[in-house]
Amino acid sequence: MAGHYRIIQAAAGNRRQGPVIAYTANPLNTPVAMPLPTHTDCIEISAPGGAGMLRPTRRPLPAPGPEEVVIAVHSAGVNRPDVIQRQGLYPPPPGVTDIPGLEVSGTVIALGAGVSRWAVGDAVCALLAGGGYSRHALAHQDLCLPVPPGIGLAEAAALPETAFTVWFNLVQQGGLRAGDRVLIHGGASGIGTLAIQVARALGATVYATAGSDDKCRSCERLGAEKCFNYRREDFTDLKALTGGRGADIILDMVGGDYVARNIRVAARRGRIISLAFLKGSRVEVDLMPMMLKQLVLTGSTLRSQPLAVKAAIARAVGEGLWPLVTAGQVRPVIHRTLPLVEAAEAHRIMESSTHTGKLLLDCRA
Ligand SMILES: NC(=O)c1ccc[n+]([C@@H]2O[C@H](COP(=O)([O-])OP(=O)(O)OC[C@H]3O[C@@H](n4cnc5c(N)ncnc54)[C@H](OP(=O)(O)O)[C@@H]3O)[C@@H](O)[C@H]2O)c1
Repeated sequence: MAGHYRIIQAAAGNRRQGPVIAYTANPLNTPVAMPLPTHTDCIEISAPGGAGMLRPTRRPLPAPGPEEVVIAVHSAGVNRPDVIQRQGLYPPPPGVTDIPGLEVSGTVIALGAGVSRWAVGDAVCALLAGGGYSRHALAHQDLCLPVPPGIGLAEAAALPETAFTVWFNLVQQGGLRAGDRVLIHGGASGIGTLAIQVARALGATVYATAGSDDKCRSCERLGAEKCFNYRREDFTDLKALTGGRGADIILDMVGGDYVARNIRVAARRGRIISLAFLKGSRVEVDLMPMMLKQLVLTGSTLRSQPLAVKAAIARAVGEGLWPLVTAGQVRPVIHRTLPLVEAAEAHRIMESSTHTGKLLLDCRA
């Protein structure tokens, strides 16, 4: 019945000014005009720098553009790229809000022109290019997904950024198949905790690395056969552990000296996929093994992908990954949820790397 809920944009052509009138549901299923709030509470990066630069503010609620929905945000995921954005090293793409936040869950409260897939009142989670640290967010209809049955609205906020990244890189780029040996660096990260479960659910044997014994045990509880504590173990011992075969897929966020070691531990025809370079992207390596073992060295960044690519990933995630979540084979691991106004504290926790899994912001508070 989405047709009953079309919105009127009173300030057509000016996306920065309201008022916006939304039609909402009533028992007779006839449209009732409801004013949307003109402003919303959010967290801005007041200047590039430390976590203290994240400050609560109020901003005008932008009207949704074509094919966009307005979401009353329940929870927002905190991701390492938000930290890098806050430091001034990962600016939002042109035309994207400066408010950080790459994923939310919540309820659709208004629809832009041409929205056909969602109705007011739908519970969704969404991938954003920015704007998640807010009580209201705009999302493209093709980047929203239903909340998978079996998990709550809050938990769903922990999924989009990691689910899109993991599915695109492990499955679509990496061609993960049952029987593969997969090595996940940063296994206790938001990305890593989901990647371990996805690879395991798809029939791979999973290995991981993490920086403490506690984190390693968490990775093993999530399905890793063995997690290497990189502070006292060498993950290239994986080669011996697999009878000389090595890893068919390596998901890396570390870079630096890991690049050469990844090449060493990769199996013949292995795929090494870089998501980030926490220890640096400038390295000197011997590429001879790449040729001899026919390795593929690749990587990607999600936020800069064109809408059509992200929409295709969303469809693949909905078809391939959501059933695994519904079946209970894959669950978001939530380390802690903080109120939206404590976003700075969430960033401090993330930078201390004391967390396992995801940090969330409760945006209703
Ligand atoms: N390319 C993309 O599309 C994309 C999308 C999303 C995220 N990412 C990247 O993926 C990574 C994970 O993101 P997230 O949000 O899941 O972050 P996160 O939870 O903060 O995870 C980062 C992990 O990196 C490990 N780490 C930090 N510094 C390290 C170092 N110097 N050496 C080795 N390990 C180190 C930490 O684990 P230990 O305590 O075990 O060291 C931590 O668990 C980030 O680097 C992020 O930028 C990329």
